[in-house]
Amino acid sequence: MNSERMVPPAKAIEARTSVAEASSELRRAHELAQDYLRRLDGLAIATRLTPDELRRSLDRPLTEEGVPACQVLEEMAAEVEPGLLHSANGRFFGWVIGGGTPTAAAADWLATVWNQNAAAYACSPAAATVEETTGRWLKDLFGLPSESSFAFVTGCQMAHVTALAAARHRMLARAGWSVERQGLAGSPGLRVLAGEHHETLLRALRLLGIGTDAVVQIDQKDDGTMNPASLARALERDAEKPTIVALAAGDLNRGAFDPIAEVCDLARRHQAWVHVDGAFGLWAATSDRFRHLVHGLEQADSWATDAHKWLNVPYDSGLVFVRDREAHRQALSIPAAYGVDVPGVRDQFEWGPEWSRRARGFAVYAALRTLGRQGVAALVDSCCDRARDLVAGLERLPGVEVLARPIINQGLVRFLDPAGDHDRHTEEVIERINASGGAWFGPTTWEGMRVMRISVSNARTTEEDIEHTIAIVRAALNS
Ligand SMILES: Cc1ncc(COP(=O)(O)O)c(C=O)c1O
Repeated sequence: MNSERMVPPAKAIEARTSVAEASSELRRAHELAQDYLRRLDGLAIATRLTPDELRRSLDRPLTEEGVPACQVLEEMAAEVEPGLLHSANGRFFGWVIGGGTPTAAAADWLATVWNQNAAAYACSPAAATVEETTGRWLKDLFGLPSESSFAFVTGCQMAHVTALAAARHRMLARAGWSVERQGLAGSPGLRVLAGEHHETLLRALRLLGIGTDAVVQIDQKDDGTMNPASLARALERDAEKPTIVALAAGDLNRGAFDPIAEVCDLARRHQAWVHVDGAFGLWAATSDRFRHLVHGLEQADSWATDAHKWLNVPYDSGLVFVRDREAHRQALSIPAAYGVDVPGVRDQFEWGPEWSRRARGFAVYAALRTLGRQGVAALVDSCCDRARDLVAGLERLPGVEVLARPIINQGLVRFLDPAGDHDRHTEEVIERINASGGAWFGPTTWEGMRVMRISVSNARTTEEDIEHTIAIVRAALNS
Protein backbone atom coordinates (compact mmCIF):
# COMPACT_ATOMS: atom_id res chain seq x y z
CA MET A 1 0.00 0.00 0.00
CA ASN A 2 1.17 3.49 -0.84
CA SER A 3 1.99 5.34 2.37
CA GLU A 4 1.68 8.78 0.77
CA ARG A 5 -1.16 10.96 2.00
CA MET A 6 -3.50 11.84 -0.86
CA VAL A 7 -4.69 15.36 -1.61
CA PRO A 8 -7.79 15.97 -3.76
CA PRO A 9 -6.64 17.43 -7.12
CA ALA A 10 -8.46 20.79 -6.96
CA LYS A 11 -7.22 21.41 -3.43
CA ALA A 12 -3.72 20.39 -4.43
CA ILE A 13 -3.63 22.96 -7.23
CA GLU A 14 -5.05 25.64 -4.96
CA ALA A 15 -2.49 24.80 -2.28
CA ARG A 16 0.35 24.85 -4.78
CA THR A 17 -0.43 28.39 -5.86
CA SER A 18 -1.61 30.00 -2.61
CA VAL A 19 0.74 32.48 -0.99
CA ALA A 20 0.33 30.93 2.47
CA GLU A 21 1.27 27.47 1.25
CA ALA A 22 4.06 28.85 -0.87
CA SER A 23 5.57 30.58 2.16
CA SER A 24 5.58 27.37 4.12
CA GLU A 25 7.19 25.50 1.22
CA LEU A 26 9.79 28.15 0.65
CA ARG A 27 10.47 28.41 4.39
CA ARG A 28 10.86 24.63 4.58
CA ALA A 29 13.23 24.63 1.57
CA HIS A 30 15.20 27.41 3.22
CA GLU A 31 15.47 25.44 6.49
CA LEU A 32 16.50 22.30 4.62
CA ALA A 33 19.12 24.23 2.65
CA GLN A 34 20.54 25.86 5.78
CA ASP A 35 20.62 22.56 7.58
CA TYR A 36 22.47 21.04 4.60
CA LEU A 37 25.06 23.80 4.48
CA ARG A 38 25.61 23.54 8.26
CA ARG A 39 26.34 19.81 7.94
CA LEU A 40 28.19 19.95 4.60
CA ASP A 41 31.69 19.97 6.04
CA GLY A 42 31.05 16.78 8.04
CA LEU A 43 29.29 14.78 5.33
CA ALA A 44 31.06 11.91 3.59
CA ILE A 45 31.70 13.48 0.18
CA ALA A 46 30.93 10.50 -2.03
CA THR A 47 27.71 8.54 -1.79
CA ARG A 48 27.94 5.05 -0.37
CA LEU A 49 24.71 3.95 -2.04
CA THR A 50 24.69 1.65 -5.03
CA PRO A 51 22.63 2.54 -8.14
CA ASP A 52 20.08 -0.11 -7.11
CA GLU A 53 19.80 1.26 -3.60
CA LEU A 54 19.21 4.73 -5.00
CA ARG A 55 16.54 3.43 -7.35
CA ARG A 56 14.84 1.58 -4.52
CA SER A 57 14.71 4.78 -2.53
CA LEU A 58 13.71 7.23 -5.28
CA ASP A 59 11.99 5.26 -8.03
CA ARG A 60 8.39 5.18 -6.82
CA PRO A 61 5.14 5.05 -8.79
CA LEU A 62 3.72 8.43 -9.74
CA THR A 63 0.57 8.91 -7.63
CA GLU A 64 -2.78 9.81 -9.16
CA GLU A 65 -3.56 12.59 -6.75
CA GLY A 66 -0.32 14.15 -5.66
CA VAL A 67 1.38 14.50 -2.29
CA PRO A 68 1.47 17.57 0.01
CA ALA A 69 4.31 19.85 -1.01
CA CYS A 70 6.19 20.05 2.30
CA GLN A 71 6.09 16.27 2.56
CA VAL A 72 7.59 16.02 -0.95
CA LEU A 73 10.35 18.47 -0.07
CA GLU A 74 11.19 16.76 3.20
CA GLU A 75 11.21 13.30 1.68
CA MET A 76 13.21 14.54 -1.27
CA ALA A 77 15.82 16.06 1.01
CA ALA A 78 16.01 12.91 3.10
CA GLU A 79 16.15 10.52 0.14
CA VAL A 80 18.23 12.56 -2.27
CA GLU A 81 20.95 13.68 0.10
CA PRO A 82 22.49 10.21 0.60
CA GLY A 83 22.85 9.98 -3.18
CA LEU A 84 24.57 13.32 -3.66
CA LEU A 85 28.22 13.83 -4.43
CA HIS A 86 28.88 16.65 -1.97
CA SER A 87 31.06 18.59 -4.39
CA ALA A 88 30.28 21.85 -2.57
CA ASN A 89 32.48 20.59 0.29
CA GLY A 90 35.77 22.50 0.49
CA ARG A 91 37.76 19.25 0.26
CA PHE A 92 36.32 18.25 -3.10
CA PHE A 93 38.98 18.50 -5.81
CA GLY A 94 37.39 16.60 -8.73
CA TRP A 95 37.01 17.84 -12.34
CA VAL A 96 36.63 21.65 -12.22
CA ILE A 97 33.61 22.23 -10.03
CA GLY A 98 32.80 25.43 -8.16
CA GLY A 99 31.24 25.15 -4.72
CA GLY A 100 28.56 27.79 -5.17
CA THR A 101 28.37 30.83 -2.91
CA PRO A 102 25.32 31.48 -0.74
CA THR A 103 24.79 34.87 -2.41
CA ALA A 104 24.67 33.39 -5.88
CA ALA A 105 22.37 30.59 -4.66
CA ALA A 106 20.07 33.13 -3.01
CA ALA A 107 19.89 35.24 -6.18
CA ASP A 108 19.17 32.09 -8.14
CA TRP A 109 16.29 31.28 -5.77
CA LEU A 110 14.82 34.69 -6.44
CA ALA A 111 15.24 34.18 -10.18
CA THR A 112 13.37 30.89 -9.82
CA VAL A 113 10.54 32.42 -7.83
CA TRP A 114 10.24 35.30 -10.31
CA ASN A 115 10.27 32.59 -13.00
CA GLN A 116 11.25 34.99 -15.74
CA ASN A 117 11.70 33.82 -19.28
CA ALA A 118 15.00 35.35 -20.35
CA ALA A 119 14.29 34.89 -24.06
CA ALA A 120 13.73 38.52 -24.87
CA TYR A 121 13.48 41.98 -23.38
CA ALA A 122 9.69 41.91 -23.67
CA CYS A 123 9.47 38.69 -21.60
CA SER A 124 11.46 40.22 -18.76
CA PRO A 125 12.82 43.74 -19.12
CA ALA A 126 14.77 43.40 -15.86
CA ALA A 127 16.37 40.07 -16.79
CA ALA A 128 17.45 41.52 -20.15
CA THR A 129 18.86 44.64 -18.52
CA VAL A 130 20.69 42.69 -15.84
CA GLU A 131 22.32 40.51 -18.52
CA GLU A 132 23.25 43.59 -20.51
CA THR A 133 24.95 45.13 -17.48
CA THR A 134 26.59 41.89 -16.40
CA GLY A 135 27.91 41.27 -19.91
CA ARG A 136 29.51 44.70 -19.84
CA TRP A 137 31.05 44.08 -16.40
CA LEU A 138 32.46 40.76 -17.58
CA LYS A 139 34.04 42.17 -20.73
CA ASP A 140 35.65 44.79 -18.57
CA LEU A 141 36.85 42.23 -15.97
CA PHE A 142 38.37 39.97 -18.62
CA GLY A 143 39.80 42.88 -20.61
CA LEU A 144 37.86 41.96 -23.76
CA PRO A 145 37.00 44.50 -26.46
CA SER A 146 34.04 46.55 -25.27
CA GLU A 147 32.27 46.25 -28.64
CA SER A 148 32.15 42.42 -28.38
CA SER A 149 28.77 40.75 -28.25
CA PHE A 150 28.01 38.11 -25.64
CA ALA A 151 25.48 35.52 -24.50
CA PHE A 152 24.59 33.71 -21.32
CA VAL A 153 24.49 30.01 -22.14
CA THR A 154 24.24 26.74 -20.22
CA GLY A 155 27.97 26.09 -20.03
CA CYS A 156 31.24 26.19 -21.90
CA GLN A 157 29.92 23.48 -24.22
CA MET A 158 27.24 25.79 -25.61
CA ALA A 159 29.64 28.72 -25.47
CA HIS A 160 31.81 26.79 -27.97
CA VAL A 161 28.79 26.03 -30.15
CA THR A 162 27.77 29.68 -30.18
CA ALA A 163 31.25 31.07 -30.81
CA LEU A 164 32.05 28.56 -33.51
CA ALA A 165 28.71 29.19 -35.21
CA ALA A 166 29.77 32.82 -35.47
CA ALA A 167 33.21 31.77 -36.72
CA ARG A 168 31.65 29.41 -39.28
CA HIS A 169 29.42 32.23 -40.50
CA ARG A 170 32.24 34.74 -40.96
CA MET A 171 34.84 32.42 -42.43
CA LEU A 172 32.43 30.99 -45.00
CA ALA A 173 30.85 34.37 -45.78
CA ARG A 174 34.33 35.59 -46.71
CA ALA A 175 34.47 32.72 -49.20
CA GLY A 176 31.12 33.87 -50.63
CA TRP A 177 29.08 31.17 -48.90
CA SER A 178 26.01 31.68 -46.67
CA VAL A 179 26.06 28.71 -44.35
CA GLU A 180 22.80 29.69 -42.69
CA ARG A 181 20.99 29.57 -46.05
CA GLN A 182 23.00 27.05 -48.06
CA GLY A 183 24.14 24.64 -45.34
CA LEU A 184 27.58 23.09 -45.38
CA ALA A 185 27.27 20.62 -48.27
CA GLY A 186 29.19 22.02 -51.22
CA SER A 187 30.81 24.79 -49.14
CA PRO A 188 34.56 25.36 -49.11
CA GLY A 189 34.54 23.72 -45.62
CA LEU A 190 36.60 24.74 -42.64
CA ARG A 191 39.66 23.52 -40.84
CA VAL A 192 40.33 23.88 -37.14
CA LEU A 193 43.92 24.11 -35.93
CA ALA A 194 44.01 23.05 -32.30
CA GLY A 195 46.51 22.13 -29.61
CA GLU A 196 45.31 20.88 -26.22
CA HIS A 197 41.53 20.89 -26.33
CA HIS A 198 38.57 19.78 -24.30
CA GLU A 199 36.15 17.19 -25.71
CA THR A 200 33.38 19.81 -25.76
CA LEU A 201 35.20 21.60 -28.57
CA LEU A 202 34.93 18.45 -30.70
CA ARG A 203 31.25 18.06 -29.91
CA ALA A 204 30.66 21.67 -30.93
CA LEU A 205 32.29 20.88 -34.27
CA ARG A 206 30.08 17.81 -34.63
CA LEU A 207 26.92 19.73 -33.82
CA LEU A 208 27.82 22.47 -36.27
CA GLY A 209 28.44 20.01 -39.10
CA ILE A 210 32.08 21.05 -39.33
CA GLY A 211 33.03 17.57 -38.16
CA THR A 212 35.99 16.35 -36.19
CA ASP A 213 37.95 15.47 -39.34
CA ALA A 214 38.38 19.22 -39.76
CA VAL A 215 40.73 19.25 -36.76
CA VAL A 216 44.42 19.55 -37.53
CA GLN A 217 46.37 18.76 -34.40
CA ILE A 218 49.17 21.26 -33.77
CA ASP A 219 52.27 20.07 -31.89
CA GLN A 220 52.70 21.08 -28.32
CA LYS A 221 55.76 22.06 -26.38
CA ASP A 222 56.78 20.08 -23.28
CA ASP A 223 54.70 22.38 -21.10
CA GLY A 224 51.54 21.39 -22.98
CA THR A 225 51.15 24.68 -24.85
CA MET A 226 50.77 25.13 -28.59
CA ASN A 227 54.02 25.36 -30.50
CA PRO A 228 53.75 28.59 -32.55
CA ALA A 229 56.32 27.39 -35.09
CA SER A 230 54.15 24.34 -35.86
CA LEU A 231 51.10 26.56 -36.05
CA ALA A 232 52.87 28.88 -38.48
CA ARG A 233 53.70 25.93 -40.74
CA ALA A 234 50.12 24.64 -40.60
CA LEU A 235 48.76 28.08 -41.47
CA GLU A 236 51.06 28.25 -44.50
CA ARG A 237 49.87 24.87 -45.75
CA ASP A 238 46.44 24.92 -47.35
CA ALA A 239 46.35 28.67 -46.79
CA GLU A 240 43.21 29.16 -48.87
CA LYS A 241 41.07 27.07 -46.53
CA PRO A 242 38.84 29.04 -44.12
CA THR A 243 40.56 28.49 -40.78
CA ILE A 244 39.73 28.59 -37.09
CA VAL A 245 42.51 28.35 -34.50
CA ALA A 246 41.29 26.92 -31.19
CA LEU A 247 43.32 27.85 -28.11
CA ALA A 248 43.27 26.69 -24.50
CA ALA A 249 43.48 29.29 -21.77
CA GLY A 250 43.88 26.85 -18.89
CA ASP A 251 43.68 23.19 -19.90
CA LEU A 252 41.89 20.72 -17.68
CA ASN A 253 44.98 18.80 -16.56
CA ARG A 254 47.74 21.32 -16.02
CA GLY A 255 45.96 24.63 -16.43
CA ALA A 256 48.42 25.41 -19.23
CA PHE A 257 47.89 28.52 -21.36
CA ASP A 258 48.58 28.63 -25.09
CA PRO A 259 50.62 31.69 -26.17
CA ILE A 260 47.61 33.82 -27.08
CA ALA A 261 49.37 37.00 -28.28
CA GLU A 262 51.79 35.11 -30.51
CA VAL A 263 49.05 32.93 -31.98
CA CYS A 264 46.75 35.90 -32.64
CA ASP A 265 49.57 37.63 -34.45
CA LEU A 266 50.14 34.62 -36.71
CA ALA A 267 46.43 34.02 -37.24
CA ARG A 268 45.79 37.62 -38.21
CA ARG A 269 48.33 37.35 -41.03
CA HIS A 270 46.32 34.45 -42.42
CA GLN A 271 42.89 35.91 -41.68
CA ALA A 272 42.13 32.99 -39.38
CA TRP A 273 39.58 33.20 -36.56
CA VAL A 274 40.99 32.61 -33.05
CA HIS A 275 38.71 30.99 -30.48
CA VAL A 276 39.77 30.73 -26.83
CA ASP A 277 38.51 28.02 -24.47
CA GLY A 278 38.87 29.66 -21.07
CA ALA A 279 36.28 27.55 -19.24
CA PHE A 280 38.00 28.42 -15.99
CA GLY A 281 41.32 29.90 -17.14
CA LEU A 282 39.74 33.09 -18.46
CA TRP A 283 39.25 34.12 -14.83
CA ALA A 284 43.04 34.42 -14.52
CA ALA A 285 42.55 37.69 -16.40
CA THR A 286 40.88 39.16 -13.30
CA SER A 287 43.96 38.75 -11.10
CA ASP A 288 47.05 40.98 -11.10
CA ARG A 289 49.10 37.90 -10.23
CA PHE A 290 47.91 35.72 -13.11
CA ARG A 291 46.86 38.16 -15.88
CA HIS A 292 50.18 37.70 -17.68
CA LEU A 293 49.09 34.16 -18.57
CA VAL A 294 46.40 35.52 -20.90
CA HIS A 295 48.58 38.17 -22.48
CA GLY A 296 47.03 39.15 -25.82
CA LEU A 297 43.60 37.76 -24.88
CA GLU A 298 41.82 40.81 -26.29
CA GLN A 299 43.24 40.09 -29.75
CA ALA A 300 41.27 36.84 -30.17
CA ASP A 301 37.91 36.64 -31.95
CA SER A 302 35.80 34.64 -29.52
CA TRP A 303 36.02 33.51 -25.93
CA ALA A 304 34.16 30.77 -24.02
CA THR A 305 34.03 30.48 -20.25
CA ASP A 306 31.90 29.42 -17.31
CA ALA A 307 30.53 31.24 -14.31
CA HIS A 308 29.59 27.94 -12.66
CA LYS A 309 33.25 26.99 -12.34
CA TRP A 310 35.44 29.69 -10.89
CA LEU A 311 32.85 32.33 -10.09
CA ASN A 312 31.09 29.70 -7.96
CA VAL A 313 27.56 30.46 -9.14
CA PRO A 314 25.03 27.63 -9.43
CA TYR A 315 24.85 25.47 -12.57
CA ASP A 316 24.13 26.05 -15.43
CA SER A 317 25.97 29.22 -16.25
CA GLY A 318 28.27 29.59 -19.25
CA LEU A 319 29.35 32.72 -21.10
CA VAL A 320 30.43 33.47 -24.64
CA PHE A 321 31.88 36.64 -26.13
CA VAL A 322 32.40 37.40 -29.82
CA ARG A 323 34.37 40.30 -31.28
CA ASP A 324 32.48 40.25 -34.61
CA ARG A 325 28.96 41.07 -33.36
CA GLU A 326 27.49 40.90 -36.84
CA ALA A 327 28.80 37.37 -37.42
CA HIS A 328 27.44 36.38 -34.00
CA ARG A 329 24.01 37.86 -34.70
CA GLN A 330 23.79 36.46 -38.22
CA ALA A 331 24.64 32.99 -36.93
CA LEU A 332 22.22 32.97 -33.99
CA SER A 333 19.32 35.36 -34.49
CA ILE A 334 15.90 34.11 -35.52
CA PRO A 335 13.00 36.07 -36.97
CA ALA A 336 10.40 36.28 -34.23
CA ALA A 337 7.12 37.11 -35.88
CA TYR A 338 5.25 36.96 -32.60
CA GLY A 339 7.88 38.82 -30.63
CA VAL A 340 7.26 42.27 -29.19
CA ASP A 341 9.67 44.61 -30.86
CA VAL A 342 10.99 47.04 -28.26
CA PRO A 343 13.34 49.47 -29.99
CA GLY A 344 16.82 50.02 -28.57
CA VAL A 345 16.92 46.98 -26.29
CA ARG A 346 18.92 43.76 -26.25
CA ASP A 347 16.89 40.63 -26.98
CA GLN A 348 18.80 37.63 -25.67
CA PHE A 349 17.51 35.22 -28.35
CA GLU A 350 19.50 37.16 -30.95
CA TRP A 351 22.74 35.96 -29.36
CA GLY A 352 22.21 32.59 -27.70
CA PRO A 353 21.25 29.15 -28.99
CA GLU A 354 18.08 28.97 -26.89
CA TRP A 355 14.70 30.63 -26.95
CA SER A 356 12.91 30.17 -23.61
CA ARG A 357 15.35 29.86 -20.77
CA ARG A 358 15.84 30.72 -17.12
CA ALA A 359 17.22 34.11 -16.18
CA ARG A 360 20.71 32.90 -15.35
CA GLY A 361 22.09 36.44 -15.41
CA PHE A 362 20.67 37.28 -11.97
CA ALA A 363 23.03 34.92 -10.12
CA VAL A 364 26.09 36.17 -12.01
CA TYR A 365 25.05 39.78 -11.42
CA ALA A 366 24.64 39.14 -7.68
CA ALA A 367 27.92 37.24 -7.41
CA LEU A 368 29.88 39.98 -9.18
CA ARG A 369 28.23 42.76 -7.19
CA THR A 370 28.96 41.03 -3.90
CA LEU A 371 32.57 40.23 -4.72
CA GLY A 372 33.53 43.35 -6.62
CA ARG A 373 36.71 43.38 -8.70
CA GLN A 374 38.90 42.69 -5.70
CA GLY A 375 36.72 39.85 -4.48
CA VAL A 376 36.81 38.09 -7.85
CA ALA A 377 40.61 38.42 -7.98
CA ALA A 378 40.89 37.22 -4.38
CA LEU A 379 38.76 34.17 -5.20
CA VAL A 380 41.08 33.28 -8.09
CA ASP A 381 44.23 33.96 -6.06
CA SER A 382 43.11 31.97 -3.05
CA CYS A 383 42.19 28.90 -5.13
CA CYS A 384 45.62 29.07 -6.82
CA ASP A 385 47.35 29.38 -3.42
CA ARG A 386 45.42 26.44 -2.01
CA ALA A 387 46.27 24.34 -5.11
CA ARG A 388 49.96 25.21 -4.74
CA ASP A 389 49.91 24.33 -1.01
CA LEU A 390 48.07 21.10 -1.60
CA VAL A 391 50.48 19.88 -4.26
CA ALA A 392 53.49 21.00 -2.19
CA GLY A 393 52.09 19.17 0.86
CA LEU A 394 51.48 16.00 -1.13
CA GLU A 395 54.98 16.16 -2.57
CA ARG A 396 56.40 15.91 0.94
CA LEU A 397 54.68 12.54 1.45
CA PRO A 398 56.76 9.47 0.60
CA GLY A 399 55.68 7.76 -2.62
CA VAL A 400 54.06 10.82 -4.20
CA GLU A 401 55.29 11.99 -7.57
CA VAL A 402 54.25 15.45 -8.71
CA LEU A 403 53.71 15.51 -12.48
CA ALA A 404 52.32 19.01 -12.83
CA ARG A 405 52.73 21.79 -10.31
CA PRO A 406 49.83 24.24 -10.47
CA ILE A 407 50.23 27.11 -12.92
CA ILE A 408 46.88 28.27 -11.63
CA ASN A 409 44.48 25.95 -9.77
CA GLN A 410 45.11 22.55 -11.43
CA GLY A 411 47.78 19.97 -10.64
CA LEU A 412 48.62 16.31 -11.29
CA VAL A 413 50.22 13.73 -9.03
CA ARG A 414 50.55 9.96 -8.97
CA PHE A 415 51.40 7.41 -6.32
CA LEU A 416 54.49 5.26 -6.81
CA ASP A 417 54.17 1.57 -6.16
CA PRO A 418 57.24 -0.13 -4.65
CA ALA A 419 56.33 -3.13 -6.87
CA GLY A 420 56.31 -0.88 -9.94
CA ASP A 421 52.60 -0.96 -10.87
CA HIS A 422 52.08 2.76 -10.47
CA ASP A 423 48.81 2.89 -12.43
CA ARG A 424 47.05 0.30 -10.28
CA HIS A 425 48.50 1.75 -7.07
CA THR A 426 47.43 5.29 -8.03
CA GLU A 427 43.88 4.11 -8.65
CA GLU A 428 43.81 2.21 -5.37
CA VAL A 429 45.07 5.17 -3.35
CA ILE A 430 42.48 7.47 -4.98
CA GLU A 431 39.78 4.94 -4.11
CA ARG A 432 40.96 4.84 -0.50
CA ILE A 433 40.98 8.64 -0.25
CA ASN A 434 37.50 8.89 -1.71
CA ALA A 435 36.19 6.02 0.43
CA SER A 436 37.34 7.90 3.54
CA GLY A 437 34.61 10.44 2.79
CA GLY A 438 36.87 13.29 3.92
CA ALA A 439 38.24 14.37 0.52
CA TRP A 440 37.56 13.58 -3.13
CA PHE A 441 39.78 13.48 -6.21
CA GLY A 442 39.27 12.16 -9.72
CA PRO A 443 41.59 9.86 -11.65
CA THR A 444 42.54 10.49 -15.26
CA THR A 445 44.99 9.22 -17.85
CA TRP A 446 47.71 11.69 -18.72
CA GLU A 447 50.63 10.97 -21.03
CA GLY A 448 49.85 7.26 -20.75
CA MET A 449 49.86 7.24 -16.93
CA ARG A 450 47.00 6.92 -14.47
CA VAL A 451 47.20 10.07 -12.38
CA MET A 452 45.24 11.98 -9.76
CA ARG A 453 43.93 15.31 -10.96
CA ILE A 454 43.68 18.17 -8.49
CA SER A 455 41.43 21.15 -9.04
CA VAL A 456 40.84 23.83 -6.44
CA SER A 457 37.85 25.78 -7.72
CA ASN A 458 35.72 26.14 -4.62
CA ALA A 459 35.38 29.41 -2.72
CA ARG A 460 34.91 27.31 0.45
CA THR A 461 38.32 25.61 0.39
CA THR A 462 40.38 26.84 3.37
CA GLU A 463 43.96 26.33 4.52
CA GLU A 464 42.58 23.91 7.13
CA ASP A 465 40.90 21.94 4.34
CA ILE A 466 44.29 21.60 2.64
CA GLU A 467 45.98 20.42 5.87
CA HIS A 468 43.15 18.00 6.53
CA THR A 469 43.34 16.65 2.96
CA ILE A 470 47.08 16.06 3.16
CA ALA A 471 46.49 14.07 6.37
CA ILE A 472 43.80 12.01 4.61
CA VAL A 473 46.13 11.23 1.69
CA ARG A 474 48.91 10.29 4.16
CA ALA A 475 46.52 7.89 5.88
CA ALA A 476 45.41 6.41 2.55
CA LEU A 477 49.05 5.81 1.60
CA ASN A 478 49.74 4.08 4.88
CA SER A 479 46.67 1.85 4.95
C1 LIG B 1 38.83 23.50 -20.48
C2 LIG B 1 37.37 23.14 -20.47
N1 LIG B 1 36.62 23.43 -21.53
C3 LIG B 1 35.30 23.15 -21.58
C4 LIG B 1 34.69 22.51 -20.52
C5 LIG B 1 33.23 22.20 -20.59
O1 LIG B 1 32.52 23.07 -19.76
P1 LIG B 1 30.99 22.85 -19.42
O2 LIG B 1 30.94 21.59 -18.62
O3 LIG B 1 30.60 24.06 -18.64
O4 LIG B 1 30.23 22.73 -20.69
C6 LIG B 1 35.44 22.17 -19.40
C7 LIG B 1 34.83 21.46 -18.25
O5 LIG B 1 35.49 21.09 -17.30
C8 LIG B 1 36.82 22.51 -19.36
O6 LIG B 1 37.59 22.22 -18.31
